[in-house]
Amino acid sequence: MPASAASRRGPPRPAKPVDEVPTGSLSELRAAADACRRCPLWRPATQTVFGAGPARARIMLVGEQPGAQEDLAGQPFVGPAGQLLRAALEAAGLDPARLYLTNTVKHFKFEARGKRRLHQRASAGEQAACRPWLAAELDRLRPRMVVALGAMAGQTLLGNTFRLTMGRGQLLPLGESDTTVVATWHPSAILRARDPKREEMHRQLLDDLQLAAEHVRA
Ligand code: URA
Repeated sequence: MPASAASRRGPPRPAKPVDEVPTGSLSELRAAADACRRCPLWRPATQTVFGAGPARARIMLVGEQPGAQEDLAGQPFVGPAGQLLRAALEAAGLDPARLYLTNTVKHFKFEARGKRRLHQRASAGEQAACRPWLAAELDRLRPRMVVALGAMAGQTLLGNTFRLTMGRGQLLPLGESDTTVVATWHPSAILRARDPKREEMHRQLLDDLQLAAEHVRA
């Protein structure tokens, strides 16, 4: 790889601490994450839901954690939130197939209620245990742009003091790297909201995705 400005400035890293960053190709990282036992979430989950998309993608989208449908499919953003997100990407002129989609936490966390599996938020310890995989994906892709979907991704990348209500829709540097972050609403939060707030959040998601698209084209 030619020595680029990005490589001289250092790799993009989450602001929250990561003890050790695994290395390898995306398929090697995916295989290693499949066998991950860094926290107990692997046990009840169907499988690890690693990131998906081309290694040369210039935009990486980081969500929170897979849901029930992602757990079964082994792919990020294939359920209702993913459908909203993919439609928004297309409306913003971005082809989802050319982007890299991943999550802060790579396993579905749930509470079983009869046959239903109710989503539960990953704890701070579970998020920390999963951070090396996100750091490894960032290291491997070195994307121009990261779109953080929701507060969990925003705080992982930008630090605990980051607030979506203040920092949404702004182009922010990712540490000392040449990667830029824009944080926006998580599609699940939009699905949960009621109009007129829902409509406003949806419009802001489109604006923020358009900003990301313009930034990588510039
Ligand atoms: N929500 C997320 O944050 N990620 C997914 O992959 C699906 C829903």
